[in-house]
Amino acid sequence: MQQRISPASSISGSIVLPGDKSISHRYAMIAAISDGPTRIANYSTGADCHSTLGCLRSLGIEVEGAGTEFVIHGKGLDGLGAPHGDLDAGNSGSTIRMLSGILAAQEFRSRIFGDESLSRRPMQRIIQPLTAMGARIQARDGKFPPLVIEGAPLQPIDYILPVPSAQVKTCVLLAGLYADGATAVTEPVRSRDHTELALREFGAQITVERQKITLIGRPVLTGREVVVPSDLSSAAFFLVAALLVPGSNLSIRGVGLNPTRSALLDFLVGMGARLRIAELDSRNGELVGDIVVEHSTLQGGVIEGPLTAALIDEIPVLAVLGAATENGLTVKDASELRIKETDRIRTVVDNLRRLGVEAQELPDGLVVPGRQTFSAGVFDSCGDHRIAMAFAVAALRADGESVIEGAEAASVSFPEFWSTLASLR
Ligand code: S3P
Repeated sequence: MQQRISPASSISGSIVLPGDKSISHRYAMIAAISDGPTRIANYSTGADCHSTLGCLRSLGIEVEGAGTEFVIHGKGLDGLGAPHGDLDAGNSGSTIRMLSGILAAQEFRSRIFGDESLSRRPMQRIIQPLTAMGARIQARDGKFPPLVIEGAPLQPIDYILPVPSAQVKTCVLLAGLYADGATAVTEPVRSRDHTELALREFGAQITVERQKITLIGRPVLTGREVVVPSDLSSAAFFLVAALLVPGSNLSIRGVGLNPTRSALLDFLVGMGARLRIAELDSRNGELVGDIVVEHSTLQGGVIEGPLTAALIDEIPVLAVLGAATENGLTVKDASELRIKETDRIRTVVDNLRRLGVEAQELPDGLVVPGRQTFSAGVFDSCGDHRIAMAFAVAALRADGESVIEGAEAASVSFPEFWSTLASLR
């Protein structure tokens, strides 16, 4: 599918965005292994989170509802059933990596696969700790999906994560629910902590000391009512759009502002963004608030070290923004970006060049000089949702009508992206 985007005269209004993708996956999986029903409001509308619901249904869990409201009838830690067929994770790295932690502890064998992009993404990072806990996992070439998981009684583990990855951390913690005793995960840098907050909310005993998270196995998890905050990583596209387009004034309501996710806002303010938070509140342990932003002249900056890990999903759209700042943007320590839905260093740099923007590709990052103008062009999502949306935002500042090829990819996290964008012009 193609989307045509013409330059915008302003991006203004007040919007509510769909539920957070990371939190939706976690609530659904934890609900399935809790006792009794969990009602989830504002569940993500993205295809990825529907892949998770599909897998849970295949494992014998009743999921009622439609749109953004679901009731998941949890069957307790040991209530999942052997799937009749293969589990389909679609495009979703979170589904395959996090659910594998639960599958590793089941009495049955399961096979989980994904689409072409997911089939190229590395799985040793979960195979290694799960194998150390006692599971048997076969992967294509020892490292790629599909995974065939022979569940087994699991041993607790004291695991030091070699890569900063909240998906891997979650996988080990979910497996740790099934092990007798304390499972610990130590992270190289603090990653998003939605799993820790959600497990605590559902009744698990979990402690966090600096970068070490410890969980006591075999808890009783109890279904409950939860509300998913709106997705800050989806809001990022509109924040950047408003910052880029002169005359913009935008309010985004009910956004998840968990401090392990909100480095984006500090980074933007540090560059000079006119941005403020209002109506701060807490829901199910997650911070939520409204973000109000206006078009701003930004200085530019450097993303490196722990900041890179904290902004990993926002780097494509920040790279676009970087070209319009005074001093440009440099991204370092981002080799993880090469193994996302696409090689995002390559797909960002290729599309920036189509935009008439100068950009340098580094092995683990990129450099985008500032004060550049944007030319209309044809941009290719390469099937990656965040690339489709980042270059739709770029097109708002271009000198004529642009085309986004493969625009349907946005549905992976944000099917309403195109209509929401149209409503703000
Ligand atoms: C996610 C963690 C990040 C992120 C992904 C969602 C999560 O991946 O890029 O979009 O929900 O835990 P990694 O764990 O691979 O860094």
